Amino acid sequence: MGHRLAAATVLLLALVAGAAAAGEQAVGAGVEEAGKSAAWTGGLSRRSFPAGFVFGTAASAYQVEGMALKDGRGPSIWDAFVKIPGEIANNATADVTVDEYHRYKEDVDIMKRMGFDAYRFSISWSRIFPTGTGKVNWKGVAYYNRLINYMLKIGITPYANLYHYDLPEALEVQYGGLLNRKIVEAFADYAEFCFKTFGDRVKNWMTFNEPRVVAALGYDDGAFAPGRCTKCKAGNSATEPYIVAHHLILSHAAAAQIYRHKYQHVQKGRIGILLDFVWYEGLTNSTADQDAAQRSRDFHVGWFLHPIIYGEYPKSLQVIVKERLPRFTADEIQMVKGSIDYVGINQYTAYYVRDQQPNATTIPSYSSDWHAAFASSFLTFFAPLGAADERNGVPIGPRANSDWLYIVPWGLYKAVTYVKEKYGNPTMLLSENGMDDPGNVTVAQGVHDTARVAYYRSYITKLKEAIDDGANCVGYFAWSMLDNFEWKLGYTSRFGLVYVDFATLRRYPKASAYWFRDVVTGKN
Ligand SMILES: *[C@@H]1O[C@H](CO)[C@@H](O)[C@H](O)[C@H]1NC(C)=O
Ligand SMILES: *[C@@H]1O[C@H](CO)[C@@H](O)[C@H](O)[C@H]1NC(C)=O
Ligand SMILES: *[C@@H]1O[C@H](CO)[C@@H](O)[C@H](O)[C@H]1NC(C)=O
Ligand SMILES: *[C@@H]1O[C@H](CO)[C@@H](O)[C@H](O)[C@H]1NC(C)=O
Repeated sequence: MGHRLAAATVLLLALVAGAAAAGEQAVGAGVEEAGKSAAWTGGLSRRSFPAGFVFGTAASAYQVEGMALKDGRGPSIWDAFVKIPGEIANNATADVTVDEYHRYKEDVDIMKRMGFDAYRFSISWSRIFPTGTGKVNWKGVAYYNRLINYMLKIGITPYANLYHYDLPEALEVQYGGLLNRKIVEAFADYAEFCFKTFGDRVKNWMTFNEPRVVAALGYDDGAFAPGRCTKCKAGNSATEPYIVAHHLILSHAAAAQIYRHKYQHVQKGRIGILLDFVWYEGLTNSTADQDAAQRSRDFHVGWFLHPIIYGEYPKSLQVIVKERLPRFTADEIQMVKGSIDYVGINQYTAYYVRDQQPNATTIPSYSSDWHAAFASSFLTFFAPLGAADERNGVPIGPRANSDWLYIVPWGLYKAVTYVKEKYGNPTMLLSENGMDDPGNVTVAQGVHDTARVAYYRSYITKLKEAIDDGANCVGYFAWSMLDNFEWKLGYTSRFGLVYVDFATLRRYPKASAYWFRDVVTGKN
């Protein structure tokens, strides 16, 4: 506990120092140069990591592409959701966002300049199939061909994810989207089209990004599209998250099966899934709180990883959720179990968690099934659980701009080590990691992102420790290359290594981009 406090203090000091430095630099130096000042690498370099370790950045189609309703793209459930007044900060949309659809060369060039090896992008299903199935939009296919070919031309390896929150709206309207079993075949068909069309060049596939967020935020609290929950206009938080998760797992497995049977032996690629994983630390050492922390890990990452590794949901889910938890048939277990060549872990933060058993007033839902309360303000966004913010008056870490994002580097070590120990040390990517600043910082302030540099230095140091201790992690992806459309927060949150002036769409690499350059191209 002692050194945890010390680490938090150092980060707080770094935040304060960063603010001071930004103030001094605001006058004078040109912004393009401003971010360049080399920051201490913390002794990190490629040589800190195993041979072949991949450094990249990650983004998703809806957040960066723009051209949301142009060049033949059909709407996704997010295009419908952002139109609901009040859902997104300042009623923002991603109709333009950072316009990577036109600026992909510039963006890939910046990645190359900063020394990155790979780009984890996502394919917009409704840009390929505007109504989810059937007719192909060849302009959309041509865009991904241009992007992939340009990456390969200049030496950036494509990591393609097939789904990042953006279900074709047509499937939502036609049959309730992810709630309908028909989605499994529709997704498998779309996935196969992508393997067939891009798989000669794309060797790293992911089926879904954060299926837990899709099921929980879309169907338990309704914060994300399609905005369903017990208290929403429509939905059922006690059943729908589990049905949706089940269909997502089956969709993933069906796509993986097609890839393995029909494409993998020729294309020689690999396929996996991307899972978000908050580290849950028991608030106290009591058995009740420690059990609550374990349940939280089960309901979070175990919900998806347990079936994929072991062929069934975690026991704690089976015991608590009972008949509301869908079952896999024997054939489905065959298809789901072992359906990954690698797993991506998206890791940003950690929370204290304590035991909270249901009572007469508890409304049945995915989040109340945890029988746990978060000791953090994450609950204001995610789960109506109620709790304290801190342990003995000390927060688990300093907070970034997003209310869910506490800076807790040791949580990354524990999360990666947990996957190693609990799930047989699968081949892992640390597939997202990063922190955000407020949207309204100026360019001059934004490029002096001292706190972000400290964040990356501390988290990547912990990743190195986990790998040194045996975790089979083969790559790291920062979220994100560019400031972009941050879902509910719209443009009031900046996660980029590169500042984007949203008025001009001009890109300005931040100090953190140059920090990565020094780490991945450095000689130490
Ligand atoms: C969002 O749109 C609604 C409806 O048009 C409006 O009442 C509200 O003020 C808008 N919010 C912002 C921040 O512009
Ligand atoms: C829990 O127990 C461990 C080992 O005895 C100790 O290091 C730690 O400080 C305890 N944590 C709390 C919150 O009491
Ligand atoms: C009952 O449980 C809910 C969460 O399910 C919690 O918010 C509430 O505080 C609890 N009430 C009492 C009286 O413990
Ligand atoms: C930035 O926006 C926040 C609210 O999101 C506000 O509290 C703060 O004062 C703003 N800062 C500037 C410099 O405008």
